[in-house]
Amino acid sequence: MPDRIKLAFIGCGGITAAHLDQGLKQFPDVAFVGWCDPSEDHAQARRAQVGGHGEIFNDPDRMIGATRPDAVYVMLPPFAHGEAEEAMLAHRLPFFIEKPVDLDLARAERTLKAVKSKRLITAVGYMNRYRYGVRRVREMLADRSRRLVLMHGGWIASMCPEKYFWLVEKKQSGGQVVEQSTHTLDLMRHFGGDVVSVSAVPVTGRLRRPRWYTAEDASLVTLTFRNGAAATLYSSWATPHGDVSLEVHATDFGACFREWAHHCTIRHGREEISIAAEPDIFGIEDRAFIDAVRTGDRSGIEADYADGVATLRVALAANRSMKTGRVVKF
Ligand SMILES: NC(=O)c1ccc[n+]([C@@H]2O[C@H](COP(=O)([O-])OP(=O)(O)OC[C@H]3O[C@@H](n4cnc5c(N)ncnc54)[C@H](O)[C@@H]3O)[C@@H](O)[C@H]2O)c1
Repeated sequence: MPDRIKLAFIGCGGITAAHLDQGLKQFPDVAFVGWCDPSEDHAQARRAQVGGHGEIFNDPDRMIGATRPDAVYVMLPPFAHGEAEEAMLAHRLPFFIEKPVDLDLARAERTLKAVKSKRLITAVGYMNRYRYGVRRVREMLADRSRRLVLMHGGWIASMCPEKYFWLVEKKQSGGQVVEQSTHTLDLMRHFGGDVVSVSAVPVTGRLRRPRWYTAEDASLVTLTFRNGAAATLYSSWATPHGDVSLEVHATDFGACFREWAHHCTIRHGREEISIAAEPDIFGIEDRAFIDAVRTGDRSGIEADYADGVATLRVALAANRSMKTGRVVKF
């Protein structure tokens, strides 16, 4: 591997800016070689963020062919997947991809098969898995003397449609469970393991929305796990006075994660410990990916493409259940 890992970016919007600011821009061992986005303004803005390094493209395959990156960051809106994955697979490149990894499960499964057969290093932007509080709860749950019982959590928010136009269009984003509370759903999978059933109800008609606002106002999802535990996931874009939270209840301890930052409190017997959230969580997950690409050791990656597909499968099952009123069993 060269001294610097050459990075190219497909999708140059808000989340790319966050990865650059919190992590990548400060890393001495990366170089920025390409920016691909249909919006030249967005690509220019990201290039300017790193001192003008890298060339601008609007075609992923051409960018990869011309700049020969060592790894690619795929920072696309959910509806825009397909071409980027094809290009990375054709060039056998490691990639970091933002959640949700796709909206088309069949295509994501095909991509996963190819990722496995080519043994590509991948990472998915489920950054909360890198938090110390989350790691601590995982360690506690690994002790076979205790059992996970219940989890309860989600995202309660309001949504300004004019600001987040693709997000509120269900076909474009997949809706709140697929796009946003997927973070909590992923942690539920991380703690609870395999999901065996999913049922969900939508809540609609709470607020007057523009015609193109097709995501539901809110939803409730019930999950059961192979190990016997159960969880409820709530999501709302119609209620401003809420927050992000997740409660985890096991036979002898309880943990609570609060706010976007996932400040953590663990109660175990008479003991209560608080674990402050890391302020630079995107930088922490970026470091894990870059280190894996540099060394070939992927053990520091907490969420890979297979995890992204597994969480997507459950989120899309929740959407199916909202539509049909039926329980989806795996
Ligand atoms: N991990 C997190 O906490 C987190 C936070 C925000 C967003 N995200 C995820 O990141 C992804 C991107 O979100 P965002 O907030 O950056 O969106 P955004 O709308 O700010 O930016 C998306 C960018 O992709 C570009 N684009 C659209 N189609 C493209 C294509 N075919 N090829 C290349 N570029 C294309 C757009 O022009 C835009 O510049 C989404 O999947 C979102 O869910 C994750």
